[in-house]
Amino acid sequence: MVAGSAAENVAMTHSIAKKILRWYERHQRDLPWRRTGDPYAVWVSEIMLQQTQVQTVLPFYRRFLAQFPTVQSLAAASMDEVLKAWENLGYYSRARHLHAAANEIVKHGKGLLPSTEEELRLLPGIGSYTAAAIASIAYGRKVPALDGNVRRVLCRLFAVQEPLDRHRTQGRLRRLAEELVPARDPGRFNQALMDLGATVCTPRKPACATCPLRNLCLAAIKGMVERLPAKNKPRSLPHKELTAAILLDRRGRVLVVQRPASGLLGGLWKFPGGTRNGTESLQECLKRAVREELGVAVRCGKELAVVHHGYTHFTMTLRAYRCSPRNGTPRTLKCRSLRWVMPEELHRFAFSRAERKVMEALSFTTDRT
Ligand code: ADE
Ligand code: SF4
Repeated sequence: MVAGSAAENVAMTHSIAKKILRWYERHQRDLPWRRTGDPYAVWVSEIMLQQTQVQTVLPFYRRFLAQFPTVQSLAAASMDEVLKAWENLGYYSRARHLHAAANEIVKHGKGLLPSTEEELRLLPGIGSYTAAAIASIAYGRKVPALDGNVRRVLCRLFAVQEPLDRHRTQGRLRRLAEELVPARDPGRFNQALMDLGATVCTPRKPACATCPLRNLCLAAIKGMVERLPAKNKPRSLPHKELTAAILLDRRGRVLVVQRPASGLLGGLWKFPGGTRNGTESLQECLKRAVREELGVAVRCGKELAVVHHGYTHFTMTLRAYRCSPRNGTPRTLKCRSLRWVMPEELHRFAFSRAERKVMEALSFTTDRT
């Protein structure tokens, strides 16, 4: 973690916790679930806060607790009543899980919410963050609760430069948080980090000048605040391999087919062919796809063009082969229509970018007029 000896690190850790808690004393948000020691109420608040902002949650939280003040009353309610109370809060599986968990607690847990992170995790609707939040806030367990706000604060505080979505980064932040969380008031400490992230160490333009941690924060010291957390790398997209048949008749016309109206590129024209599945070779793919599309068998000849193209959800390589028919007359089995077209007439049809790239590679005239 922070550079220096173990003893220095212990002192640093202690100092961070102290400064955050002192800041929280004065600046904490006044939230109703912070005025209760009731684990049930803390649980309800954490479930509501999973996907909803604090300001939106407030009136729902008050009404819900007035209507279902105990885990017993929630378990005794019908699913419909619970959903009605959740109406307009969104993500209704939260309400269904809450209700199911209340029933489990009443039936098997003597009406008491479990007090450890591990046991809480076993209940419907409670993931690792929520389990840690409830265990620390309601039961004083010394566990860190890392939500998005807390991760951002820690990432800056320790100048962690790897993108946040990486498994390794999450593990690193968790270990740092485990060292930081104090045995006394871990729930207050966790909520203080949440508040600091929500009000001071905000995603954009954090208020470092008023931050209680500014003298300890490595990102602030190194002038890296603007750059952290590092942007997540774009996910690598799936890659598809496609084949296209260039079939010419005796007059030099090329066969093109129109895609079905629905789906990606629906209604656009293309060369016959399709996407390679896991096991077949490119030649097999081409022969199969043309047979399915047009009901004809083709011989697959020389590779004429290779083009690469990227869409939002995948990338692809499209290979065009010179083909010749073996038997049968093309029919519109899996396409809307088919046409034999002189290459210089292809510009009249609507093709996708990838097909245009093939035409350019084949030196077909592709200029639009
Ligand atoms: N978000 C989730 N839990 C919270 C809490 N206890 N206080 C503030 N924001 C939160
Ligand atoms: Fe966040 Fe700035 Fe405080 Fe560091 S000094 S924790 S970057 S607000």
